[in-house]
Amino acid sequence: MEHEALKKKDNESVMRSYARYDVSIIEGKGAVCYDSSGKRHIDFTAGIGVNALGFCDPKWSAAVAAQASRLQHASNLFYTEPCATLAGRLTERTGLAKVFFANSGAEANECAIKAARKHSFDKYGGGRHGIITLENSFHGRTMATITATGQDSFHKYFNPFLDGFSYVPAEDAGRLREAATEEVCAIMIEPILGEGGVIPLSREFVGEIESLCCERDILLIVDEVQTGVGRTGRFFAYEHYGLSPDIVTAAKALGGGLPIGAALFGEKLASVFAPGDHGSTFGGNPVSCAGGLVVTERLDDAFLGEVRDKGDYMAEKLRRMKGVKEVSGLGMMLGASLEGGAGAKDVAAECARNGLLMLTAKDKLRFLPPLVISWEEIDEGLAVLASVLV
Ligand SMILES: Cc1ncc(COP(=O)(O)O)c(C=O)c1O
Repeated sequence: MEHEALKKKDNESVMRSYARYDVSIIEGKGAVCYDSSGKRHIDFTAGIGVNALGFCDPKWSAAVAAQASRLQHASNLFYTEPCATLAGRLTERTGLAKVFFANSGAEANECAIKAARKHSFDKYGGGRHGIITLENSFHGRTMATITATGQDSFHKYFNPFLDGFSYVPAEDAGRLREAATEEVCAIMIEPILGEGGVIPLSREFVGEIESLCCERDILLIVDEVQTGVGRTGRFFAYEHYGLSPDIVTAAKALGGGLPIGAALFGEKLASVFAPGDHGSTFGGNPVSCAGGLVVTERLDDAFLGEVRDKGDYMAEKLRRMKGVKEVSGLGMMLGASLEGGAGAKDVAAECARNGLLMLTAKDKLRFLPPLVISWEEIDEGLAVLASVLV
C-alpha cells in the first residue's frame, strides 16, 4: 500500500496514542530497511531496542518459522521445550535461580513488584510493601509500573495510582537512606535511565543502593528491559556494576522481535510464587521463546565485545560531530544532547526524511541500533545525522 493511503487507513482506525514518523516501513534486513517508496534507511532504533539481531536475521526467522509450524502455543498448563530451555539458558547465564515469563517489559516489572511484596509478606507479614524508584525513571504503562515510573508527566489522568511507591533523585544517597523506612521491601532501578535521557547511574550510587539493601533486608530489583540482553555490551548492564540483584527484568531484545518479558529471581525468591499466585496465558509462548533462544545463543563474549567496540566507536564519532554537545550511555545505548537548543525530535524527523531512523529520549537523540549493525552502516547513519545537524 502506498504511504499516504496507509497513513489515512491507520489514522482512521488505530488509536492515536502514538506520534508516528511520516514513514511506512515495508521490509528490512539487518540494520537496513525500506519504506513504501523503496527508500533505504539505516536503522538506529532496532524497533526501540527490540531487534537485537536486526531485521529478519536468517537463523532467527528460520527458528521462529519452524516453531510456528510445529507448536505455536499450548498454554502454561503443559510443559513446552522452548520455554524450559530459554529459562535454563537465562539462569545459567546469570546465576539467578528462576524465571517467570511474561509478554512485555511492563508485565515483567509488574511481576517483579508482586514478587517483592509477596516475599516481604511471607517473611515479615503485612505493611512492608513500599517500593522506592528513581525520579526520572521509566518502568512501563500498566497501573503498577506507571506508578513506579518516577515522572510526574505520567501521573496524570489515571488516578488513583498504587499506594506504597516513593521516588528519590538518582545520585542522592542521603534521600535514598531517608526513604528506606521500615515499610520498604524493594528498591527498583534502571542501571541507565533510558527514556529519562540515557543517563547511567554512577558506580558510587549503585554501591550505596546495594549496601542499603543489604543493611535493611531490602530487595534490589534491576529493570533491564531496555539495557538488557546485550544492549550495553554485557548480557545485563548490572554486570558493569558488579551487582548481585534479587530480581532482574528483561523484555525488548529478549525475543529478537517477538513479544516476551521475563522476571528472573535469585535464590532468596526462588519459591516466592506457588501455583495460582501469578500467571499469564501467553507467557513462555513457544514461538517467542524460540526467537529468544537464537538471540541468547548469539550473545557470546566475542559478540558482546564487538557491541562494546562499536558503541565506543559511535560515541567517539558523535563526540566529534558538529552540533553535538554531550554523549552519554554505554555500549550501543547512547544519548546525545544537541548544541544551541536544536530540537531532538525535529532532528530525528529530518533524519527519517533522509534515510536514517532515529529515537529521542527527553531532549536528546537516542541511539539503539541493532547489535549486528556493521561498521559501514554506523558510518553511513552517522553521515546522515551529520548532514542534518550542519
Ligand atoms: C526500562 C524500561 N522498563 C519498562 C519498559 C516497558 O516495556 P514495555 O513497553 O515492553 O511494556 C520500558 C519500555 O521502554 C523500559 O525502557
